[in-house]
Amino acid sequence: MSEIIYDFGSGRSNPETFPIAALQKAASDVIAREAEALNDYPGKLGFAPLREAMAQRESDREGVVVDPDHIVLTNGSMQAVTLCGEALAERGDSIIVEEYSYPGTLSAYRSLGLEMTGVKLTPDGMCLDTLTTELQRLQDSGKPAKFIYTISTYQNPTGFTMPKTRRLELINIARQFDVPVVEDNCYADVYYEGELQPALYALDDDPRQIYLCSLSKILAPGLRLGYFLAKPPMLDKLLARRHDAGSNTLAAAIVAEFYKDGVWTHTKFGNEALLKKRDQVLDGLDEHLADLCVWSKPEGGLFIWMRLPDDVDRKELWKRTQANGFAYLPGVAFHYRNADVPYLRLAFGHLTEQQIAEGLPVLARCIKESRTSNEAMVHNSLF
Ligand SMILES: Cc1ncc(COP(=O)(O)O)c(C=O)c1O
Repeated sequence: MSEIIYDFGSGRSNPETFPIAALQKAASDVIAREAEALNDYPGKLGFAPLREAMAQRESDREGVVVDPDHIVLTNGSMQAVTLCGEALAERGDSIIVEEYSYPGTLSAYRSLGLEMTGVKLTPDGMCLDTLTTELQRLQDSGKPAKFIYTISTYQNPTGFTMPKTRRLELINIARQFDVPVVEDNCYADVYYEGELQPALYALDDDPRQIYLCSLSKILAPGLRLGYFLAKPPMLDKLLARRHDAGSNTLAAAIVAEFYKDGVWTHTKFGNEALLKKRDQVLDGLDEHLADLCVWSKPEGGLFIWMRLPDDVDRKELWKRTQANGFAYLPGVAFHYRNADVPYLRLAFGHLTEQQIAEGLPVLARCIKESRTSNEAMVHNSLF
């Protein structure tokens, strides 16, 4: 295998806007100031000033009051994803996910032995007719779904966002079937354009609501800071499964200090740089692959979802791209049942302008060389 030069595979933050000096300063300020907190265990909720900063972040975006004591800091939002699986379901139980979803979530729920039902995706998110049919089917089979997991905004991998009307319908369906919704909103603030859609908790005060968010996408994943928002008794149900003595106070204190005037100045700055990369990738795809593939044009988030022609030999494509230093994540990694679907995901957050400019022609060439026919493009939509 040759060295990967064009890593469109991993979903990472942008190193160009990582605030090194400001975090260095914050670290040096907080170590002395928070010495007492650092010499103690953080407790189940975690470092209060960061919970307050995240409550402010949520409340600024959603326009509703968020209680910092309903926010729990976690080791990345991934810990919260896993906690939901552990607290709400048991091995062998059924849950609902989107047909294409985040591989980390799928892997966690698979290893907990949860039986996932995948609901078809549309450019407006989960197809609610399919959702209703599946919830009914599971209920009739005596194994009702224990929760619905949705990445409602700038979905990973498709980039799709569910509009408010569909969110309201989702809330109604969930209520009708008495099933909690876990909304994973970790890309919400990686915003480029378009109308903002409200989080489910801002539309509904059902006490079963669980909301997950992260600092990985607006700051950096190496901090391993995420959080969930839930009200008692759901909050206590989730906390009862937490046995790690809380999350890293040092990381939380540095980030709380960095965000002491809010998250928005740095987030906006980061998004402007990401938008340029998104546009460069979209332009590059138009230039090199418009005659063969279709792809999403995300209004936020870090990914572009691309449909390959059916006549591409996907094993061959993988081999050729790897041999040419190009990495992507194949559709199979996102499918709830590991089906080998003709899609791939391109991540662009951490790539340089040069890597994007040079990498896309490599991908286009490999796709063309992996085709088994000369048929003209047959698909003009993603699904
Ligand atoms: C939808 C989704 N949820 C959760 C995570 C986990 O992120 P983290 O644990 O870094 O917050 C990711 C990471 O890519 C993701 O895409």
